[in-house]
Amino acid sequence: MRAVTVVNPGPDYTLTLAECETPSPGAGEILIKVAAAGLNRADLLQAKGKYPPPAGASDILGLEISGEVAECAAGSPFHVGDKVCALIPGGGYAEYARVDEGSVLPLPSGVGLIEAAALPEALFTAWTNLIDAGGLKTRETVLIHGGSSGIGTAAIQLAAALGAKVLTTAGGPERCEKCERLGATLAIDHHTEDFVAAVLEATAGRGADVILDMVGGDYIGRNFAAAAPKGRIVNIAYQKGATATVDFRLMQAKRLILTATTLRGRSPDEKRALRDALLKTVWPLIETGAIKPVIEAVHPIAEAGIAHARMAKGGHFGKILLTV
Ligand SMILES: NC(=O)c1ccc[n+]([C@@H]2O[C@H](COP(=O)([O-])OP(=O)(O)OC[C@H]3O[C@@H](n4cnc5c(N)ncnc54)[C@H](OP(=O)(O)O)[C@@H]3O)[C@@H](O)[C@H]2O)c1
Repeated sequence: MRAVTVVNPGPDYTLTLAECETPSPGAGEILIKVAAAGLNRADLLQAKGKYPPPAGASDILGLEISGEVAECAAGSPFHVGDKVCALIPGGGYAEYARVDEGSVLPLPSGVGLIEAAALPEALFTAWTNLIDAGGLKTRETVLIHGGSSGIGTAAIQLAAALGAKVLTTAGGPERCEKCERLGATLAIDHHTEDFVAAVLEATAGRGADVILDMVGGDYIGRNFAAAAPKGRIVNIAYQKGATATVDFRLMQAKRLILTATTLRGRSPDEKRALRDALLKTVWPLIETGAIKPVIEAVHPIAEAGIAHARMAKGGHFGKILLTV
């Protein structure tokens, strides 16, 4: 099969298409003929040699796919030809990928085969961090940093659909306006506004009950100031830096909870539990149109390098996809 391979992994990597061995599904796995793969910032890190795949995962880039089931064992809940999307620990930028059955979801009605590749990573991440780690409840206020990102656009829609009041940060007025159209009641332009002051003003001084942060750096301490008493802060990335000088007295005074998670290295059973939660609660919200894939661009797989450059440059809103 054809797959994207990384030439010269490191800061100056390039991507090229090459012939690779077609994977064979193991016990509890199915083979998917890939229609599209979603790009994630983690793919750029992996290509730079900074984010190796977990043990047992394919070393081909790509953490989410959509496509058709090409092979499955007798007794599998899936059938050859089923249209599905899936979260994978690697192997998406290819014609075929092997996938644990517990990470596979049917295509929600109303979503096309290509578009569906925009769903898995963003919604698994949004759900596990907002709901499992953050404990977000209806009518609570959530602050979502990076609202314009693939993860952020899904998190805004999910939190709003579940009845939370959504505040978000994004870079520039146009991106803020788009976030508000997705369901945020207030989008704060982090280029020109202080998000702490804006959140306190929007909540009559109380702060946000849950904060989802992919920025890190000085946001770590500023999140303490923007959080409500007993607020829960969930870090998923440190784009602005993984070290910070923080005054923990504010955390203590407000009795805050600070946690941080990753998705890729979780066990198949943990991912299956998340998949089941998405199927039960989130797939119906997609089918009513409350949550939609947000797609900036679709590139053919031969343009994987161009797609990576586009993500590295920033300025995209939502997901970038590769068609296979
Ligand atoms: N822990 C996990 O399980 C997990 C899972 C998936 C993704 N992630 C992480 O979550 C992040 C988002 O992923 P993605 O694939 O959706 O990436 P993405 O679409 O490229 O989004 C990154 C966004 O972060 C915002 N940003 C970057 N630097 C910023 C700064 N200094 N201040 C404020 N905002 C900043 C940018 O928004 P503006 O241009 O609007 O400022 C940008 O759109 C990535 O860092 C990724 O590694 C973590």
